[in-house]
Amino acid sequence: MEHKQAAVSEVSEAEIAVHWQEEGYYPPPVSFIAQANLADPEVHKRFALDKFPECFKEYADLLTWFKYWEETLDTSNAPFWRWFVGGQINVSYNCVDRHLEKHRNKTAIHFVPELEQEPIQHLTYQELYVRVNEVAAMLRNFCDLKVGDRVTLHLPMVAELPITMLACTRIGVIHSQVFSGFSGKACADRIVDSGSTVLITMDGYYRNGAMQDQKDKADVACAEAEAEGHKVEKVLIWQRYPGKNSSARPMVKGRDFIVNDVLKNYRHTHIDPVPMPAEAPLFLMYTSGTTGKPKGCQHSTGGYLAYVAGTSKYIQDIHPEDVYWCMADIGWITGHSYIVYGPLALAASSVVYEGVPTYPDAGRPWRIAEELGVNIFHTSPTAIRALRRAGPEEPAKYNYHFKHMTTVGEPIEPEVWRWYYEIVGKREAVIVDTWWQTENGGFLCSTIPAVNPMKPGSAGPAVPGIHPVIYDEDGKEIPRGTGKAGNICIRNPWPGIFQTIWGDPERFVRQYYERYNKKKGSTDWRDWPYLAGDGAVQAEDGYYRILGRIDDVINVAGHRLGTKEIESAALTVKEVAEAAVVPVADEIKGRVPDLYVALKPGIKASRELETRISEAVVSEISPIARPRRVWLVPDMPKTRSGKIMRRVLASISSGQDAGDISTLANPEVIEELRKMAKR
Ligand code: WTA
Repeated sequence: MEHKQAAVSEVSEAEIAVHWQEEGYYPPPVSFIAQANLADPEVHKRFALDKFPECFKEYADLLTWFKYWEETLDTSNAPFWRWFVGGQINVSYNCVDRHLEKHRNKTAIHFVPELEQEPIQHLTYQELYVRVNEVAAMLRNFCDLKVGDRVTLHLPMVAELPITMLACTRIGVIHSQVFSGFSGKACADRIVDSGSTVLITMDGYYRNGAMQDQKDKADVACAEAEAEGHKVEKVLIWQRYPGKNSSARPMVKGRDFIVNDVLKNYRHTHIDPVPMPAEAPLFLMYTSGTTGKPKGCQHSTGGYLAYVAGTSKYIQDIHPEDVYWCMADIGWITGHSYIVYGPLALAASSVVYEGVPTYPDAGRPWRIAEELGVNIFHTSPTAIRALRRAGPEEPAKYNYHFKHMTTVGEPIEPEVWRWYYEIVGKREAVIVDTWWQTENGGFLCSTIPAVNPMKPGSAGPAVPGIHPVIYDEDGKEIPRGTGKAGNICIRNPWPGIFQTIWGDPERFVRQYYERYNKKKGSTDWRDWPYLAGDGAVQAEDGYYRILGRIDDVINVAGHRLGTKEIESAALTVKEVAEAAVVPVADEIKGRVPDLYVALKPGIKASRELETRISEAVVSEISPIARPRRVWLVPDMPKTRSGKIMRRVLASISSGQDAGDISTLANPEVIEELRKMAKR
């Protein structure tokens, strides 16, 4: 049975949070304010709770509707919110077709290959329109996909990924893009859960200067899915270099098809964008939760697009003239919302970079920025830390100018923030520290760049229309300025919030709404605060500082991983009896997993076994989940009732005092663990 979620984790990220002191303010540059989309401090009044939910009309009106909606928010089946009810809209129409009149010849996507000698490709809105239509025709006519069908994508960071996503949205097919760095097995789990019969991938792509075989993962994914009783009917393979095969794997007859070959039959075919109900599901994005199984967050069409367009305009300050580069991966929610849908809905030029930021050296991002005239830059603290370490003086060598920079995904240390501001931003740019989650569709907390001053290490106040509250364990509100941490929740629904967990509506309610629900069965949204799963404190000035996850999730280099997922991967090694994962602070990645393993009786510990367990985690999940260290321990520290005390393990990993161990059934194990730690 699944345990009751939230704040039950014995050792959570929030517990090992760094408690920075409150920093001073940095005002936004006057030049930024002068051109900003949103410089009116009254905006918070426009989006105040007494204007809720009608205030969000402002976001929906950024879009072109085939049929305008009748009801802003339907709460009759709380907490399954329905936004813009009665409205009909198409996402590809909003991100492509409607821009043709004014921006036909403007770059929609700059694709930057990792190999620097390869030219950058510039895809105009006209070309994007043609490609999206052709691919939509292929999906409908060759793959026989219909409205509401799911299709799994396992594509790297190439222009073909947004093209494929937009093609799906054109015909109402629900896409589920799996991060390309995930293993074939991880892809299979998501294929099976979503019930996809079509997998779209690429033969290979460059990462760190080496060609990766992605088709190999497709073969694994199909085999694994089949072992789980699910058949993948078709695998569509884009070629990284059209006309050339970049994978060593043979084609499977009747299953595998080269996209470019198939597309020849649909040259310049036009597919009418299907008017979709605002509440139709747009995509699934799998993320880690408290159980071993990742969950498919289902996002809506109208509400989601309205929310990402609104926040892209007001918080990212995107204008159609901007060259915008978000260095995240489209395989994560940040990429969906703030590489593809938000920027393209606003007719910006969005950069898609194939590779790693430090390839071939730490000057690469700044050369790309210089070459393309990037003026909005968006990345994670992990990337900033890595670039700072590898090339602290690099940005000064290049002639680029950012007006705006974003950080997302993890808390950013004030010192790292200052390097970002002074050296990367050359003191010319505003920084927004945006806090949000896969489930949320778009930003929850951030400064409004032209309105609020920046404060290093703090995400800032809530964005317009979002009303957070911090509750203690008993559901009492923790007032601002007390310095006390609690569980951050959002009082009200918003258009970007996910609709449900695919196939598991009960878990959706249990995990996000049950904890602080005020009245069972209520249809009043005020009774359903959304539990984010993060610990937070609110300073006197109203700015929020996010401390980290309160549940069994570890945020490794900004990638969300479940401790249970890693533990069950370790358990696939037959010698393993028990596994426990704890988060450890890391200078570059923020947090990394340490894996403790107890072996079955009679099995001897060895380096070989450590490696094998580590590799099992990589092949079950991904290299991003690789444990910092695998500890083969004689015994796990346990309570008398037999529960593993992860808190004790965490203290060993971080070289700290184990604290109160009076409930431990086997205290002698601590001494042994300490000895191991010294080795
Ligand atoms: C963490 C990524 C501090 C947080 C968009 C959250 C942050 C989890 C920030 C969601 C930030 C995200 N400051 N922590 N600015 N942004 N987080 O689902 O713990 O991949 O719950 O979404 O990342 O990660 P996810």
